[in-house]
Amino acid sequence: MRLFVAIHFSDEIRARLLDAIDALRAQAVSGNFTRPENLHMTLAFVGESNETAAIRRVLDALPAGAFPLTVGGCGRFGDLYWVGIEKSERLQALVCALRDGLRGAGVPFDEKPFKPHITIARQLVSDAPVALDFPETAMRVDRVSLMKSERVNGRLVYTELCGRRL
Ligand code: 2AM
Repeated sequence: MRLFVAIHFSDEIRARLLDAIDALRAQAVSGNFTRPENLHMTLAFVGESNETAAIRRVLDALPAGAFPLTVGGCGRFGDLYWVGIEKSERLQALVCALRDGLRGAGVPFDEKPFKPHITIARQLVSDAPVALDFPETAMRVDRVSLMKSERVNGRLVYTELCGRRL
């Protein structure tokens, strides 16, 4: 199974992300746009693994406590377009605790430094510069999810295997 640990967004932020995706789509010649149900932010990418029980224990051992997070700004890495996350010590601390927990449990994951972002489009092709903005919008992070990623009939489908309330 292809696994990753992620957080999801409030309804308000999801609605604004969908507006941003619509704005991109309107300016694009082609692209793969994130489907609404797939919007998330990855905290740790585990990849191929069957260690769901060990990862669940790591999530259960995370320090409790919901915290505020502000989504805002946007940019691109090549042809991948993203919406940004304001710097947050609480988010950094959560990611450190999660990644330390995974290491302690012997669960390998992608050790690339955490670059908080929300992918809204991939392989985007446009014939003019793309204009995109995302207003700063606050939410609370109160849940962390272990997600499974699979391709079903050519479509990426993400399913929550378990969640931990913070
Ligand atoms: P991305 O949106 O920047 O591609 C499922 O693939 C999720 O895991 C996506 O949020 C993806 O981020 C993230 N991810 C992080 N590292 C990854 C990696 N090495 N390979 C694939 N996906 C990765």
